[in-house]
Amino acid sequence: MTARIIDGQQLAERMRSKIAEETKAFQAAHGYVPGLGVVLVGDNPASAQYVRMKRRACEAVGITSVGQYLPANATQEEVEAVVNQMNADPAVHGILVQLPLPNHLDEEAVLRAVSLEKDADGLHPINIGRLAMKGRDPLFTPATPTGCMYLLEEAGAKLEGARAVVIGRSNIVGTPMALMLMKANATVTVCHSRTRDMQSIVREADIVVAAIGKPEYVKGDWLKPGAIVIDVGTNKIDDPTDSRGYRFVGDVEFASAVEVAGAITKVPGGVGPMTITMLIVNTLKAAQHSARSAV
Ligand code: GUN
Repeated sequence: MTARIIDGQQLAERMRSKIAEETKAFQAAHGYVPGLGVVLVGDNPASAQYVRMKRRACEAVGITSVGQYLPANATQEEVEAVVNQMNADPAVHGILVQLPLPNHLDEEAVLRAVSLEKDADGLHPINIGRLAMKGRDPLFTPATPTGCMYLLEEAGAKLEGARAVVIGRSNIVGTPMALMLMKANATVTVCHSRTRDMQSIVREADIVVAAIGKPEYVKGDWLKPGAIVIDVGTNKIDDPTDSRGYRFVGDVEFASAVEVAGAITKVPGGVGPMTITMLIVNTLKAAQHSARSAV
């Protein structure tokens, strides 16, 4: 059996054109456009690239973006001051603090400084706490796992009662992913670098989300036939046959997995485009929330 490809690029484009229409309607109704504030500290080239892509995606759907770029040696007070300025700015409805921050900064304190109503990245400790609690709902959920939930829906996954395995336990992907699957009534197991006999755990899963950051780590013969596989990994590997000398691969060995899975995402063209789409969804939602509260 060959798996169906879950096309994240196509789903993202569909969602973005819907957001563009809603943004136009928002502007017609309120006389201003939604705005995203982006905070970037330091000169990590990958972070700078993500920020460029996020700002470009906003502009393409009619959302303005305001960037504040601080040097790598910025102090805690300077970073929080920028966040507070954005909290107070009525033209900024959503705020994104690009992670990781340089090591000398207290990441939790910076994320806590973001106004709850403007937490477009869903990483405020209160939003994450609500995500972790039964019967509570966060205002916003983190972009990457939210994008994965849409991809699962697109694949027709039945989450209720399903066995889901999340590989990786990072604060921005693995952990919130597990919480979101749990809220959707899946039975969730989280695997990580210390997990013993990961293969036998993955073998039980109807749904596998791989977010461990190791190139082609999960092999096809680990999978239960028919499983739905979401590959969050974006790993740069050397490839002399590619004109750039490198290419990107996921955390799943695609060639073997596609023969066993029922549906699978590709890298690139799977989770990546959805992550940025979720940020713009959240920014529009934040602006709509702010417009409602202003009435
Ligand atoms: N760095 C890598 N992914 C993300 C993300 O989704 N949000 C933020 N803020 N930083 C990131």
